[in-house]
Amino acid sequence: MEWNNIRLEGHEGWALLTIDRPKVLNALNRETLDELEQALDRVEESGDIRALIITGSGEKAFVAGADIKELREIPSAHEAERLAEKGQALFSRLEELPVPVIMAAGGFALGGGFELALSGDILLASEKARFGLPEVNLGILPGYGGTQRLARLVGKSTAKYYALTGEMIPAEEAYRLGIVQKVVPHEQLLPEAKSLARTLSKQAPVAMNFIKKSINQGAETDLKTGLRLEASHFGTVFNTEDRMEGMDAFLEKRKASFRGK
Ligand code: HXC
Repeated sequence: MEWNNIRLEGHEGWALLTIDRPKVLNALNRETLDELEQALDRVEESGDIRALIITGSGEKAFVAGADIKELREIPSAHEAERLAEKGQALFSRLEELPVPVIMAAGGFALGGGFELALSGDILLASEKARFGLPEVNLGILPGYGGTQRLARLVGKSTAKYYALTGEMIPAEEAYRLGIVQKVVPHEQLLPEAKSLARTLSKQAPVAMNFIKKSINQGAETDLKTGLRLEASHFGTVFNTEDRMEGMDAFLEKRKASFRGK
């Protein structure tokens, strides 16, 4: 399939998805959202992609937000709401993807780009990364989940501070706030992401899927319900061949070879 705005590269057990509009700092237009949707179909259908990296092309940006040229032409509140829903659905799908998603941000991750980064499972940043919700400077608000995911992650007050001021968050500060899991030298960003993807691609796929589900679903509910969910998912994973393989491998003092069954 030919895509205009993204590239999907398959490797042994994992894939690298690059948003590729460097002239506009990888801004997300509608076509890019559609292509990302198709790429996720491809990842899910492939059956042998066990970890996904998402990054932006060029030296300056991860993704500098929704495409402001396109936003400028939106004629009505109704259409704006539909666009927000479209992006939100895509980002929620990413969050719930059965395989772990590593976001690798090596530059500006602003507005929709920050919201995209917040929809992954693990966020790696280079020292040059800058995160932020500058929508307020355009007279609008974040629409791809930023007010919700950032507030859940760092608390309401810190989320309000950044969404109201539009101030950028440098990589180290994002790390301190728990937004970013690791900050690495710029040239180490992709090697680090790839090494992590390789590690994850060797873990038990069904267990990883249910770890994601337990944490995602549990974060949206009370502790009692979350613990019920965890116990139920724990039971489900015991139906897999991989749990036998994992335990046998431990007892036989060898490396497990997981098949995703
Ligand atoms: C369209 C964009 C863009 C964007 C950058 N460009 N960001 N085009 N949409 N979000 C374009 C610029 O117009 C410029 O094109 C080229 O990319 C390079 O950008 P510069 O501004 O020249 O680079 P620089 O001076 O280094 O500044 C980098 C920057 C700045 C600080 C990241 O580009 C910037 O503030 N961008 C906008 C960030 C933003 O407001 N994002 C939130 C968008 S709203 P030319 O043709 O001049 O070379 C959003 C809402 C999501 O995301 C929810 C929707 C429902």
